[in-house]
Amino acid sequence: AKTHHRTFVVQQTPENRLCRIHNILTVNGQYPGPTLQVRNGDTLVIKVLNSGRYNVTIHWHGIRQMRTPWADGPEYVTQCPIQPGASYTYRFPIENQEGTFWWHAHSRFLRATIHGALIVLPKLGSPYPFPKPKHEIPVILGEWWNRDVISVQRLAIFTGGAPNVSDAYTINGQPGDLYMCSSQGTTRFPVQSGDTILLRVINAALNQQLFFKVANHRLTVVEADAAYTKPFTTSTIMLGPGQTTNVLLTADQTPGRYYMAARAYATAQNAPFDNTTTTAILEYQSANRGVPSRPILPRLPAFNDTATVTAFSAQFRSLGKVDVPTKIDENLFFTIGLGFVNCAPGPRCQGPNNTRFAASMNNVSFVLPRRASLLQAYFQNIPGIFTTDFPRVPPIKFNYTGPVSRALWQPRFATKLYKLKFGSTVQIVLQDTAIFSTEDHPIHLHGYHFFVVGQGFGNFNRRRDTPSFNLIDPPVRNTIDVPVGGWAVIRFVADNPGVWLFHCHIDTHLAWGLAMSFLVENGIGKSQSVSPPPADLPPC
Ligand code: C2O
Repeated sequence: AKTHHRTFVVQQTPENRLCRIHNILTVNGQYPGPTLQVRNGDTLVIKVLNSGRYNVTIHWHGIRQMRTPWADGPEYVTQCPIQPGASYTYRFPIENQEGTFWWHAHSRFLRATIHGALIVLPKLGSPYPFPKPKHEIPVILGEWWNRDVISVQRLAIFTGGAPNVSDAYTINGQPGDLYMCSSQGTTRFPVQSGDTILLRVINAALNQQLFFKVANHRLTVVEADAAYTKPFTTSTIMLGPGQTTNVLLTADQTPGRYYMAARAYATAQNAPFDNTTTTAILEYQSANRGVPSRPILPRLPAFNDTATVTAFSAQFRSLGKVDVPTKIDENLFFTIGLGFVNCAPGPRCQGPNNTRFAASMNNVSFVLPRRASLLQAYFQNIPGIFTTDFPRVPPIKFNYTGPVSRALWQPRFATKLYKLKFGSTVQIVLQDTAIFSTEDHPIHLHGYHFFVVGQGFGNFNRRRDTPSFNLIDPPVRNTIDVPVGGWAVIRFVADNPGVWLFHCHIDTHLAWGLAMSFLVENGIGKSQSVSPPPADLPPC
């Protein structure tokens, strides 16, 4: 096993997109940032130097951080942010994990431009569970704003209204030639006829679920969220923000040029979204001069095509036998969704009818502390930072996905954690609500991956829905896109001590409070306990 030392300098970088030069924050001047490629069992030592003007942290999405929660990265959860001019070194081993991960800023909306792929190959000499592809390429889907992303966030958070939608989607940082002034930079992927390539697709978009498709080519899904799946073939994939999906593609079509394209899967009724399409080009190297130069465009599903998404997600199965906990110690039921709080008319009250948007789980809208991170507060016994009374079930029962009276459901702002004993088995029912409008939410758990044992539409019904759980080969994920107006049920074993954020990976929803945190207590001995914080942990 190797130790990889890298330096990430967060800096302002001029980038030319959509006919204008923008100054954006990047890592090492690259957008997307550098791809890290390592092997299962290696250790990463990454020094992050903040040369920008905003506080920043970096999160290693999907990496479990067993006993190294100080390297996880969400600001005010496992660390205070790295202030301008300061640095912090993330040091962590990768233990029994492989596949497509990614890294991103976990500080306000900075993830929009500060992100990159983290690829963990199998240990030397151990093969993939599928034929070795000729090439492997990261395909990072993103969102681009003509405005500064901090001002986009301010609009939503300060005014309490909805944020601006993006101006373009991107593939590996480029909108592609369907947008103005973008044909030069369009991302191109060369292939030879007959080759099979592995696309490591990452949805790094801030706020948008995305469909992805390649004209005329079938995609074979082999991995999702860095867990192998039983291979299945599809023409379209859909990823929620935070999710990754590996697909094999064989260049078995007439030599030529084919677009890969991504665009929105948007489920919230009456909410505006960016309805544009980003493209990259798959280019057969053997294509001769007679081939028309205009690439073929795939026909993507309609923006509201939930049927396609449902059929797609129903196909996921773990590869091989998995160990799903069957005896449950902690049976939790969390509502998730958007809502409103009343406010006095004024600049901070731009939500519908004298309200501002607030999102919540079990009616608690999560507030980040400022004086210390949650993990520090726990580790050093600092009082007054959090409480551990996050409700295990909603405070009131109602028809979650039906018409809901707003008066019934005014979220409370608080920093509440839920305490789990080391080794306890946990089931969480995630129930979408219709207080603003139903929509799908990509819910991500830090420090863990989990089994998705069931999902469906409407209100979860224990008696009706439990018998249909998949306890044999459910997919393993770190981010579950809970269906619009529906529910999903996940299970995991709390074997990683620390404080772990559990949140919607749509950054607007996270900023509105669609989050909570678990406090997983230490077990017995060093191997089951949080190690002490590194000496350079940033102060608040
Ligand atoms: Cu990919 Cu909390 O993040």
